[in-house]
Amino acid sequence: MKKIFGVLVLSAWGLIAAGQVNLISNIDARKSLSLNGKWNYIVDPYETGFYDYRYKELNEKNPEAYWNTDIQANRTEKKEHGYIDKYSINVPGDWNHQQPEFTFYEGTIWYKKSFDYQKSDAGNKCYIYFGAVNYRADVYLNGKKLGMHKGGFTPFNFEVPAAVLKDKGNFLVVKVDNKRHADEVPTLNTDWWNYGGITRDVKLVEVPGTFIQDFMVQLKKNTSGKAPDKSPEVEGWVKLNQAPAAGETVTVEIPELKFKKVVPAGAQVTALNFKLPKVQLWSPATPKLYTVTVSTKTDRTTDKIGFRTIEAHGIQVLLNGKPLFMRGISIHGEIPQEVRRAYTQEDAAQLLRQSKELNCNMVRLAHYPHDEKITRLADSLGMLVWSEIPVYWTIDFTSKEVLEKAKVQLEEMITRDHNRASVIIWSVGNETPISTTRTDFMHSLLTKARELDNTRMVSAALEVNYSALNDMNVIDDPLGEFVDLVAFNEYLGWYGGLPDKCRTTNWDTPYQKPLFISETGGDGKGGFHADSLTRFSEEYMEWYYKEQVAMLKRMPAKYVGISPWVLNDFRSPRRNNPLYQEGWNRKGLFDDKGNKKKAFYILKAYYDQKQKETKQ
Ligand code: GCU
Repeated sequence: MKKIFGVLVLSAWGLIAAGQVNLISNIDARKSLSLNGKWNYIVDPYETGFYDYRYKELNEKNPEAYWNTDIQANRTEKKEHGYIDKYSINVPGDWNHQQPEFTFYEGTIWYKKSFDYQKSDAGNKCYIYFGAVNYRADVYLNGKKLGMHKGGFTPFNFEVPAAVLKDKGNFLVVKVDNKRHADEVPTLNTDWWNYGGITRDVKLVEVPGTFIQDFMVQLKKNTSGKAPDKSPEVEGWVKLNQAPAAGETVTVEIPELKFKKVVPAGAQVTALNFKLPKVQLWSPATPKLYTVTVSTKTDRTTDKIGFRTIEAHGIQVLLNGKPLFMRGISIHGEIPQEVRRAYTQEDAAQLLRQSKELNCNMVRLAHYPHDEKITRLADSLGMLVWSEIPVYWTIDFTSKEVLEKAKVQLEEMITRDHNRASVIIWSVGNETPISTTRTDFMHSLLTKARELDNTRMVSAALEVNYSALNDMNVIDDPLGEFVDLVAFNEYLGWYGGLPDKCRTTNWDTPYQKPLFISETGGDGKGGFHADSLTRFSEEYMEWYYKEQVAMLKRMPAKYVGISPWVLNDFRSPRRNNPLYQEGWNRKGLFDDKGNKKKAFYILKAYYDQKQKETKQ
């Protein structure tokens, strides 16, 4: 038996790998104290609070360290740091939109939050949970280091040792550093704004000593090419934080289905396999969610789960056994009209509302896992989701450490959302340059994704080489062999030639797999009108979409959908045309004020026609 890591269980149907990261899933169902709100901060570009003047890391007890103590205790004390309300910032929220001087800031900011908390049971455990912090977070409580996390878009939690937590006056400090590095994920270069800070919810969570760390209750992987059985089969598992007491059991209940299943608990992970009574399958047209409770003798957690199957079958994608066409749109986790990262329920609602206005049934959340609120809202609104980790452009594919960093982000992404019916595709990256080293790196990520969850499709956005363009373009990237869905980005008419080049261009892939266009688009500054040959005008963009849509009508049978680039104009440090861009990528179908551009109506008309055609 190959040792993956974490916990392996040999079930009736082979191995289940329950992850390595000790992330607590379904966190919103847990007893918790929100630590959102105003936090004090210290801007520390020289990391003076972390290193001494010889640039050696300060040791834990050093009073100069910014994780230690508060403001000057008495007038004789030489104290050169402290936290006062005059310097306060909102959490969650990127720092860039909160203070003008932070707009371009990349570096360290220290955050401090004081709170009181009394555990309801001394035997319980407490964890500090972060929805996301960009990029590196060093976390301290009452002067004690709890841990360090890297990765700007996935959740993490640290256990609070019982001896560290106080009933009153807890002192939580987080050193946040969003500096970019060549050996990180993403690497130095991205076409999005490197918003820094504690960008998603923070909470103190209280759980029993032995608790349900993570669980997966989904329909068994469907490879039949048919609709799932009326009484579909569930395949899953329940992972506890530690080995349970003797005689422990795991119970799964779905009251609405009058369903209850009790099984003896495994060592730390208990395999689940049972048939459900007749269910309403989840789909965009019927986004039915069931209340599912998983419990043991000491713990219980409840979630809202939809049951559906998704599979790449030959050259089709089948949702509940029926062919699916994805009318998609790519989205950045940003609210343009406020120039900030998205993190509220209303933000999620805005982005999905705009997508629905385009008549989409699918969204590609690019290029990193978005806030959990949007995948949960997609579940209830019936919007299919492509979720991706930021293995973007020129990651250091030669480095084992970088591969490990990418795997941790992949596992955190999957652990958080593997019970979301809306999520149908795990993407392991975007536009990564072809080489054997890169393909091995990406292949290893695809394998890991399947190990963690074999019920969804895996993919990656492949690149097209524009210099080689001719009338028949084949997507033959070697990575295509290992994905379920062959997805590619094409910008014919923006980065390659003029839009009318589409009239003589065709696309195909040698892989007998479904084919998806994960990006296409051109810049058009909202309100700038000119003739259609004028780049950056709404008319050029409109022409671009007209030619694309006509070309899409000639796509091969393998063509199962598209997610154009991009829903909204978004901030990018790479876009510096002083007249039309000014730090914005202008490929949004909506401009940064929320106005629809002319191209919006071209794409919508195409989707309306596709919806009629596919009756989906
Ligand atoms: C790329 C990339 C996007 C980028 C877009 C563009 O394909 O994946 O992140 O923003 O093209 O150039 O606008």
